[in-house]
Amino acid sequence: MSERAATEPAPGEAILEVRDLVKHFPVRVGVLFKHVIGQVRAVDGVSFELRRGETLGVVGESGCGKSTLAQVLMRLEPPTSGTALYKGRDMFAMRGAELRKLRRSIQIVLQDPYTSLNPRMTVGDIVGEPFDIHPEVAPKGERRAKVRELLDVVGLNPEHINRYPHQFSGGQRQRIGIARALALRPEIIICDEPVSALDVSIQAQVMNLLGDLQSEFGLSYVFIAHDLSVVRHLSDRVAVMYLGKIVEIGTEDEIYSHPTHPYTQALLSAVPVADPTVRGQRQVIRLEGDVPSPVDPPSGCRFRTRCWKAQDVCAEEVPELVTRVAGHPSACHFAEERSVVP
Ligand SMILES: Nc1ncnc2c1ncn2[C@@H]1O[C@H](COP(=O)(O)OP(=O)(O)O)[C@@H](O)[C@H]1O
Ligand code: SF4
Ligand SMILES: [Mg+2]
Repeated sequence: MSERAATEPAPGEAILEVRDLVKHFPVRVGVLFKHVIGQVRAVDGVSFELRRGETLGVVGESGCGKSTLAQVLMRLEPPTSGTALYKGRDMFAMRGAELRKLRRSIQIVLQDPYTSLNPRMTVGDIVGEPFDIHPEVAPKGERRAKVRELLDVVGLNPEHINRYPHQFSGGQRQRIGIARALALRPEIIICDEPVSALDVSIQAQVMNLLGDLQSEFGLSYVFIAHDLSVVRHLSDRVAVMYLGKIVEIGTEDEIYSHPTHPYTQALLSAVPVADPTVRGQRQVIRLEGDVPSPVDPPSGCRFRTRCWKAQDVCAEEVPELVTRVAGHPSACHFAEERSVVP
């Protein structure tokens, strides 16, 4: 094992610290789109910590800001405000050599392996492409050998290095995407719904692969999903998002066995249960209506238009994400434990 530099976080220490992160997109109208008539509040004050070697699940319905959060953390979109410290250094202020190193250290795996791979490139070129941008990781003469090794690591046949994406199944294509993300030996991988487009049986295989790679390489994951069941086994902690904000965050046990926010409880009650006797006893919480527009979110608690517990105070005061009950933070004035899955 290589020696850890003095500045390297030890296992369990924060590798990423996100504070009050905000990303708004202007809503423009007019022939030349010159007039800004509002803001899409895609991410609206998100704070969390990612520790070395852990998986933080990020869960919420479509449109709640998960991919925007991922794009900002990848530095593909500038934040509107807020900070993110990578190993204690402001990652949005990084330039030059430090930024190059950051771009190696944080990688992303996207949802759709069909559209995220260039159909005209061979698998070898796709997986080896990051070496063109960062030749210091693999000198030209060693690249093919490195790519073969990466294919082997993700469970693909290294002999298939000259094949094209269409010659692989959906699950295999996601393995290609994972091999490419691993090429630069990152420390953090942001997984943006990597298994949502796959069949359930294939999902489990890809999740197992990601778990194995995490142990082997000491990776930290931000694992995004729209369904709480998908992230359960991989996640050490889970953050539940609603309309640009984290509404509850805690350990796997706290979120699944002691949820305190009505939204988390509703999401949990929708998780498929295999055991028919358990399914029969379970009370399903049906959410009324749709997710409101992030251009004009409800005052006070953003969840109040769909919440069965809402009181007057919920329209007037934004509930802070603080610990009121059950030992973990929940952004609800009336947070209380409710066992949803028996
Ligand atoms: N580039 C953009 N310009 C304007 N609005 C955007 C842009 N990207 C995302 N949004 C909006 O931000 C909100 C959050 O989207 P997104 O982050 O993709 O959510 P999720 O990944 O949770 O489904 C949505 O209302 C979406 O329409
Ligand atoms: S603060 Fe009020 S509206 Fe919001 S989740 Fe809690 S009870 Fe429901
Ligand atoms: Mg998304």
